[in-house]
Amino acid sequence: MSDSINRSDSYVELRNINKHFKDFHATKDANISIKKGKLVALLGPSGSGKTTILRMIAGLEQPDSGEILIDGKVVNNVPGSERGIGFVFQSYALFRYQTVYENIAFGLRVKKVPEKEIKKRVSELLTLISCEGLENRYPSQLSGGQRQRVAFARALAPNPQILLLDEPFAAIDAKVRLELRTWLKEMITKIGITSIFVTHDQDEAIEVADEIIVTNQGRVEQSGTPQELYSRPKTEFVAKFLGNSTVVQNFERFKYFEKQDEDVTAILRPEFVSIYKKDENVQFVRSVEEATVEDIIFRGSNMEIKVKLHGNLISALRSINDPIIEVGEKVNVFIYRLFVISRDKVELIHNLSLKQETVVI
Ligand SMILES: Nc1ncnc2c1ncn2[C@@H]1O[C@H](COP(=O)(O)OP(=O)(O)OP(=O)(O)O)[C@@H](O)[C@H]1O
Ligand SMILES: [Mg+2]
Repeated sequence: MSDSINRSDSYVELRNINKHFKDFHATKDANISIKKGKLVALLGPSGSGKTTILRMIAGLEQPDSGEILIDGKVVNNVPGSERGIGFVFQSYALFRYQTVYENIAFGLRVKKVPEKEIKKRVSELLTLISCEGLENRYPSQLSGGQRQRVAFARALAPNPQILLLDEPFAAIDAKVRLELRTWLKEMITKIGITSIFVTHDQDEAIEVADEIIVTNQGRVEQSGTPQELYSRPKTEFVAKFLGNSTVVQNFERFKYFEKQDEDVTAILRPEFVSIYKKDENVQFVRSVEEATVEDIIFRGSNMEIKVKLHGNLISALRSINDPIIEVGEKVNVFIYRLFVISRDKVELIHNLSLKQETVVI
């Protein structure tokens, strides 16, 4: 095996990786490039191959073809234990019959680090994860959030160059999960370690990651910053998967949208739509359409209003401070823009009246 020269500035790189489990093609020609110090999310539905990718990077699974590079070196034949990787597993990975101290010390003992140094490092890590004083507890005596932080400290103990986290918050309840997200981002930024975490929760990926890699059926669909993926999806899958997207039929019946040449699918997001009461002032008064409210969902900080328009159920958000709208009420709907998809190309098209009214003004 020859080392290849790293021409790009990637720190972790997958080149044309394929992986089968018997006849099942779990990873299909995956190309991934991650820069040093970045926090990257692997986001995709269940079974899309996220864990498989992580396990191949960690050396727990061998690809059938393609190359894995770390810091410019091909590591396909380097054992996992020599790749400088820390791994936080999908299911709880703490040893139940060992104390917090022993759990964190685990990787250091494997490396035969002297006891004095172990003590110092464990103590440092306990401070880092705000779990001082818990070293003699067993995992069953910790909260879910504390357990995950200990799992994080254990992965960090041997000073890895790369940290892999497989759905680190999956087993945690909603509120603690939110706190841990922020905590993890702060920790990783502070330590500056290149990290890849797996999630199937898009909010988590969007909030936490510098960059997102979207997986679908073993393929990498798209990668980029959260903003890029959210506002410029390149494939139908990404456009539908991100945001609270709904597919709309016969959108050419919507007022003020340019006709498309062929049969296309359109995708709407709530933020592309505004809904007004009939007596509310509307800027684009000529371009609104009347619809009836089918459903209203209280979302805490705002209300989701669902209306039927040309056979489509579409959503918009309204502030709780706006005049109240009720189910069955006739309302005005204005659609600012939508994604249209033809031959798996995604294009954002705008309501024509946005241009026209600017001219009038
Ligand atoms: N050891 C294995 N043997 C056979 N099939 C496997 C094996 N590991 C994974 N698979 C299959 O490969 C596909 C991808 O699995 P993987 O665990 O990577 O998905 P995932 O994206 O992590 O899903 P989840 O979000 O549910 O954890 C799945 O269909 C899974 O059943
Ligand atoms: Mg998984």
